[in-house]
Amino acid sequence: MKTNIMGIEIANPVVIASGPWTRGRDKLKKALSLGAGAIFTETIVSESYPDLTPRYDYIKENGGVENIRLYSGIDLETWIDDLNYIKKNKRFGSRSKVIASVMGSSPSEAVYISKKIAKTGVDGIELGLACPMGEGPELVAGIPESVYAFTKAVVDAVDIPVSVKLSAATGNLPMVVKACAKAGASGISGIDTIRCILSIDIESGRPGLPTYGGYSGAPIRPIGLSAVAGMAQTTGLPIVGIGGIENADNVIEYIMAGANAGGIGSGILISGYGVVSDIITAVDKWITDHHITDIEQIKGCALRCLKSFEEIKCEDKHADLVSDCVDSSCGICINCCLEEAISYDGKIKVDEAKCDGCGFCIGLCPDKKLALGW
Ligand SMILES: Cc1cc2nc3c(=O)[nH]c(=O)nc-3n(C[C@H](O)[C@H](O)[C@H](O)COP(=O)(O)O)c2cc1C
Repeated sequence: MKTNIMGIEIANPVVIASGPWTRGRDKLKKALSLGAGAIFTETIVSESYPDLTPRYDYIKENGGVENIRLYSGIDLETWIDDLNYIKKNKRFGSRSKVIASVMGSSPSEAVYISKKIAKTGVDGIELGLACPMGEGPELVAGIPESVYAFTKAVVDAVDIPVSVKLSAATGNLPMVVKACAKAGASGISGIDTIRCILSIDIESGRPGLPTYGGYSGAPIRPIGLSAVAGMAQTTGLPIVGIGGIENADNVIEYIMAGANAGGIGSGILISGYGVVSDIITAVDKWITDHHITDIEQIKGCALRCLKSFEEIKCEDKHADLVSDCVDSSCGICINCCLEEAISYDGKIKVDEAKCDGCGFCIGLCPDKKLALGW
């Protein structure tokens, strides 16, 4: 199902986010073969940045990834050659749009790079303002005036659409989003990785990686969804929702939070490039199964149920058993109920007088035997 990112129509709502999986001609060729609506290059800067070794830390149990890759490992001249190479080869027959992610140490450097890259036939520029490694970029992403200055300079300098990639690690996201819109951006992407220390070895006292890194993968998805919902409540600009997408359901979640498309990053590191085609097929199936003919039918639908805290009314609810539970060996709900409302007497029982309807036991029950009732 087609959608639109930064004013550009794309064939389906699954895109490949910026990262080393789209660095250079060979990886671009691979990414172009997957059928994504669009592919975003790794962030292009003037100089190449070193590939530190090691540069990844990973927690398999929850899918969390830390990386200490700053910008692209190849320089501007090589990028221009590589992007011209894929243009000359007519993108190898791919329908995927190509968006170049760009960053400079100042607005004028970002302009310099963007003007050169725009000549290679890319469909759009994404300003990568939000990378949490090193000294500079994360600061830019948090300051509306700086975001405005970078965005306006690049928007005025090129005649292709410009989007801005933002960070969730800023206290004033709505102001930053408004600054992008005021500067003439055609779209917003988010989120970038979040500054982290993924692990510390408690025998040696050493962190997994020797500097602060960027956190990505499944654990950041709730933060991404919240940031995208906030962006969608602030602007009508098309949004690419990124952060922890592992499957088709996650893409649909981002669309329901207000995005026009979902971007995959760490999923490629963890499962390989094939995950992109798998997700595209599964999103397509979900859309067909649910008789959706236009993305607008579901875009942002979750926002309608999202109230401010003050608007939520207290309702007299309590946990109820969906079916009898006679598992005497489990006891998870009993152990975790702060109100001591759950007991076992041949079967699990909920004391309605004690239960205050917090809902936590429902998520904890391994057999989904509890639900909230009146
Ligand atoms: C190894 C790695 C390198 C990345 N490099 C870039 C980059 O060059 N430019 C950029 O805008 N985002 C970069 N990102 C951020 C991703 O595009 C994405 O926003 C973030 O990882 C969250 O999505 P995910 O959880 O699907 O990975 C990188 C992420 C990873 C894991």
